[in-house]
Amino acid sequence: MRRPLIAGNWKMNGTKSSAEALLSGVVSGAASVAKAEIAVCVPFPLLYLGERLLADSGIQLGAQNVCTEPGGAYTGEVSAAMLVDFGCRYVICGHSERREYYGETDEIIAKKVSVSIAAGMKPILCVGETLQQREDGLTEQVIGAQINGVMSRIGIDAFDRLEIAYEPVWAIGTGKTASPEQAQDVHVFIRNKVADESAAIAEKIRILYGGSMKAANARELLSQADIDGGLIGGASLVADDFLVICQAG
Ligand code: G3H
Repeated sequence: MRRPLIAGNWKMNGTKSSAEALLSGVVSGAASVAKAEIAVCVPFPLLYLGERLLADSGIQLGAQNVCTEPGGAYTGEVSAAMLVDFGCRYVICGHSERREYYGETDEIIAKKVSVSIAAGMKPILCVGETLQQREDGLTEQVIGAQINGVMSRIGIDAFDRLEIAYEPVWAIGTGKTASPEQAQDVHVFIRNKVADESAAIAEKIRILYGGSMKAANARELLSQADIDGGLIGGASLVADDFLVICQAG
């Protein structure tokens, strides 16, 4: 059985005071979450606060990005070792916003996944199609290529040490959610793709769904056999909403 993982992705939101209130709210409600593992991926400047407020809570800290290089003269970048130093367990790699706005290619994403694993973190590797690609019937082709783009570079064994998040781009921040059946179909496709290389890893790997998951639809999505958790954007910014999703996991 795969333990569900509910990970909040705060994106570029939060101040010291709002983050303190949100983290404290999640910590105080986490005891009511029976099954799911909980993580929050906060912006870099708030990692220190996450490390302090999540200590001993059982809630994992994560980051939203990482540099491909180990250290040195890379102005503005943050290394995997720095993230580990601040207590990060998870790091989001290849989010569609980074693919689209910052030109992250499969090659860059594969390196980020690789350095994160080497540093001892678990990457959350994001894949997903645009609306146009879905309407053109290209969903499986696009997602297959995104998975291959990483797997061909870092090997199947690395997939034993990462999570995958299926995030249809058309559902991110739009209020439109993939139907449970649409999401389940793509999750099965992803799991089969991993199974082509290793049945054992495919059985173990967690595949999260992301894209307008919220309190009202979480239970139905998470009840699908191959949906092993959620990567939550907007709804992770309100402690009570996030906790309802965690309880649905
Ligand atoms: O990483 C999270 C996803 O982009 C989903 O964001 O829940 O605001 O749609 P959302």
